[in-house]
Amino acid sequence: MEKILFLVSAFLLVWGLRLQSDPATASKGNKLAAIGMLIAIFSAVIMPVENSNSNLIWIISPLSLSAIIGYLIAKKIKMTSMPQMVSIFNGLGGLSAVLLSFAEINKWISFPDEYQIIVVIVLISSLFIGSVAFTGSLLAFAKLDGYRWSEKLTLPFQHIVNIVFLTMIIGFSYFFISDPEIYYLYIIITFSFIYGVFFVAPIGGADMPVVISLLNSFTGITAALTGIIFGNIVMLLGGILVGAAGTILTVLMCNAMNRSLLNVIIGGFSSSDPSKENKEQGDIKEISDSDFAVQLFYSNKVIIVPGYGLAVAQAQKLCKEIQESLEANDVEVKYAIHPVAGRMPGHMNVLLAEADVDYSKLIELDQANEEFKSTDVAVIIGANDVVNPDAIDDSSSPLFGMPILKVWESKSTVVLKRSMSAGYAGVQNPLFFKKNNKMYFGDAKESLQRLSSELKNL
Ligand code: TAP
Repeated sequence: MEKILFLVSAFLLVWGLRLQSDPATASKGNKLAAIGMLIAIFSAVIMPVENSNSNLIWIISPLSLSAIIGYLIAKKIKMTSMPQMVSIFNGLGGLSAVLLSFAEINKWISFPDEYQIIVVIVLISSLFIGSVAFTGSLLAFAKLDGYRWSEKLTLPFQHIVNIVFLTMIIGFSYFFISDPEIYYLYIIITFSFIYGVFFVAPIGGADMPVVISLLNSFTGITAALTGIIFGNIVMLLGGILVGAAGTILTVLMCNAMNRSLLNVIIGGFSSSDPSKENKEQGDIKEISDSDFAVQLFYSNKVIIVPGYGLAVAQAQKLCKEIQESLEANDVEVKYAIHPVAGRMPGHMNVLLAEADVDYSKLIELDQANEEFKSTDVAVIIGANDVVNPDAIDDSSSPLFGMPILKVWESKSTVVLKRSMSAGYAGVQNPLFFKKNNKMYFGDAKESLQRLSSELKNL
């Protein structure tokens, strides 16, 4: 019976993941995967315990309590804080792997003959990777949530310090396997926790999604290793799925920013020169409500570029309203989606799906860059870094090399934002000073509200 349930659960997890690759079926895929996970927990943790066993209450109570806490947090969290939530949950996954490995290593110390040496190596690896995922994810959370101290943890020659720590962890693991004294184990755990902090410390804030995804793949690997040790197929499979998905996502995000993983880990993104970023770049021009509405109304083609600010303002429904007003006047409207617009992978897709924007209207970076040339107005709503021409023009920019939406190739551009503040990478955007650009200042929700009223009056 247990094996059949494992098979059903594995099928649901894989099928759920498959469905999540398409926005139309993603929600269904999420539910199927959740059911798969429930079956996995039931068959792996609850079923093997005898009903009469008093331990059952100790298993079910914390499981139910944590399920309620998890549900409440996920329900309450704002879409813009989703990466922080993923980071914390991922860290807890890492900590679970640490605790499981720690318990099993202690058994090995008591009954050394029952374990092969390779199993002990796997256990120590799982303990190490889980510890790095735990403290690394906590620091990633702090960085994303804007805790200032989190940006000040980098030591001089951090990368050399990291190599020294790694070497010491390997050394103490060797001593521990040769002579299983418990204090070696405590040293390994402490150093691994510290290494997790040092691993994430030098990485720039804007690279945190890549780091979270990488740490997520680490947690997947530890889960898979733990699955091997406990002979639990569904844990092995779940771990492989998380590990593979995390790795693929990491690679895709690095590609989207045109950076290698090594460059992300070494922390190149944050090493910009602030004096250069705030340089004066010329005059900006503002556009009035009525001029903006008229310009859009008499266009043939408009491309909207959503960014992080649209999510902050929660103005996606107004965006759809404007799209409909324009389409009613035979204006073709599309949305250009940059792969790292917003603060998490697929952020803009989810945001627009919330407003019921037809998925066929969304175009990806390459297609958008083809289409800007035939576009009358590109409307940039709360986006900044993803439309920064310095990514192409200025080799000293921290954004240099990142594939970018070339909005300036449209006949004109209008940028909606509240001020001249920089985007996530902390650099000024020369687009705002271009001849064919106008600024439409204000909170995106209020601005789109004004624009929508103007359009209705035309
Ligand atoms: P950003 O470069 O972060 O720019 C967002 C802009 O929105 C800001 O310049 C801000 O200017 C404006 N804004 C904020 N609140 C607003 C509001 N209520 N109304 C109107 N405008 C508002 O965003 P982006 O272009 O989407 O680029 C994403 C950046 O984040 C990239 O650097 C990317 O690497 C990084 N990142 C991406 C991810 C993923 S995976 N998507 C995750 C983390 C970080 P004002 O303050 O002047 O309004």
